[in-house]
Amino acid sequence: MTTPIVEVVRGDITTQPTDAIVNAANSSLMGGGGVDGAIHAAAGPTLLEACRALRVDQYPDGLPTGSAVATTAGMLPAGHVIHTVGPRRWDYPDGGKDLLAACHANALAEARRIGARSVCFPAISCGVYGWHPQDAAPIAMKVVHEDLVQHGSIQLVRFVLFNDEALEHFAAAQ
Ligand code: APR
Repeated sequence: MTTPIVEVVRGDITTQPTDAIVNAANSSLMGGGGVDGAIHAAAGPTLLEACRALRVDQYPDGLPTGSAVATTAGMLPAGHVIHTVGPRRWDYPDGGKDLLAACHANALAEARRIGARSVCFPAISCGVYGWHPQDAAPIAMKVVHEDLVQHGSIQLVRFVLFNDEALEHFAAAQ
């Protein structure tokens, strides 16, 4: 058993060939802007079809904030997309810290469920949803490090940051 690795890199999550990449979605699962828009654009229409099927079957009212669910990755190099919905900072007195933590814990649980051994995360809620990477990074890192110690199967978690500010804060929170 090798020691799990947690990496922080600057890049575009849609290019990552890991077993799974995490999408910072919204509850509708019907796509949007930011990383959600980039993932859907790169994955192609089969991703939206898979999300539509989830809305019909498992999540008729939408994916709740903090929950996570895997789908195909369509044309992406990754094996699966794990969709999660981060908290919108202004919706909660504390920004929704516990929900942001839950996004990471539930995404890792979903990764284990589908047998993924390598997972990429974006900076969930750090764009449209108003969180500052300086506040989100320690929450994300704490959950990921604790999860990897507690469970054995995931060998690599890579945070893929799209700007230097997020990179700086996630690297500092390592
Ligand atoms: N790869 C990695 N990270 C990316 C990429 C990309 N290709 N594109 C954007 N990002 C980064 C942003 O710079 C930000 O740091 O992802 C982080 C999360 O920002 P958003 O994508 O805005 O996600 P979030 O803040 O969670 O808001 C979710 O935005 O796009 C909509 O449909 C989405 O309604 C949902 C909301």
